[in-house]
Amino acid sequence: MNKITLPTPDDWHLHLRDGDMLNRVAPLSSDFARAIIMPNLVPPVVNVDLAKAYRDRIINAGFANPLMTLYLTESTSIADIDAAIDWGHVHALKLYPAGATTNSASGVHNIDKVMPVLEHMAKRGLPLCVHGEVTDPEIDIFDRESVFIERILAPLRIRLPELKITMEHVTTKDGVDYVLSQDKNVGATITTHHLIIDRNDLLVGGVKPHFYCLPIVKRRLHRDALRKAATSGDHRFFLGTDSAPHSLDKKECECCAAGVFSSPNTMPWLAQVFDEEGKLENLEKFASLNGPAHYNLPVNEGIMTIERQDTPVIFPKSYGESDTLVTLFDPGQPLYWKVTL
Ligand code: NCD
Ligand code: ZN
Repeated sequence: MNKITLPTPDDWHLHLRDGDMLNRVAPLSSDFARAIIMPNLVPPVVNVDLAKAYRDRIINAGFANPLMTLYLTESTSIADIDAAIDWGHVHALKLYPAGATTNSASGVHNIDKVMPVLEHMAKRGLPLCVHGEVTDPEIDIFDRESVFIERILAPLRIRLPELKITMEHVTTKDGVDYVLSQDKNVGATITTHHLIIDRNDLLVGGVKPHFYCLPIVKRRLHRDALRKAATSGDHRFFLGTDSAPHSLDKKECECCAAGVFSSPNTMPWLAQVFDEEGKLENLEKFASLNGPAHYNLPVNEGIMTIERQDTPVIFPKSYGESDTLVTLFDPGQPLYWKVTL
């Protein structure tokens, strides 16, 4: 197959930031009709008033269809959930374990404190997006996802099986196996970069800041489990790029920020990955069909065509300037696919 046509894809996990960076990156997600927008701004998007104002800024910046999320804190109230549902543009709450990742300081320390809110969300059918890593300093960074499943997610599922959960950016075979063991109310997003790079790419021959993200990329066997899950077409797995722009000075410095920026070239790279796996026909499930089904939304009406090229496709190395200078995800291999329509 040298060409694939699919319903216009969506991005089920996207960071658009704010201010100048928002204006810079919002138009660069134009391959996607809709996107679940992460609320980890400073200060975080914790209620409908903040979400309304942020949604307006996103639309003004050039991304027409943001699907908003609220940042779950230990102060989130039942009234916040009802207001979100009444407004109609909030599609999930986001659980960040406090301290797990960029701008997560206001996140949840103790899951028991948010149980009444989670119970109410389950009752009202509002999904929970989960950053699935423990923050226990005793736990090795490469094990934080599997320990989260064991300590937090599996018990939560048993306590509240009716709550619909999105395991965000699953990065391990353990995560994939857990999702596969659940027959309802659990889906998982997978990023573009976790399908391509492993921890050798991050660390061998020198540390590559532009491959540093959270959850951190794992060993090859995990990458391969993710590839198998994504390309299988299984309805529980769908695309969430976790495209997370940070300006160059925040990436190339003594303490590099976590995040890979991949919005502009995700679709061609996914076509290449699915082609390598001999599963190009399942790309539409992963990028266009499974996500809307999980979030009870219609499939987009538009279409996208991606075609194989004879010579490598070259993307810009970066976009923007100074405070908005963002480096594009570049796995360092030739890319032979291009979005042509
Ligand atoms: C994200 C960010 O920069 O906001 N970083 C990342 O490495 N993925 C936060 C997140 O989703 O963990
Ligand atoms: Zn993210």
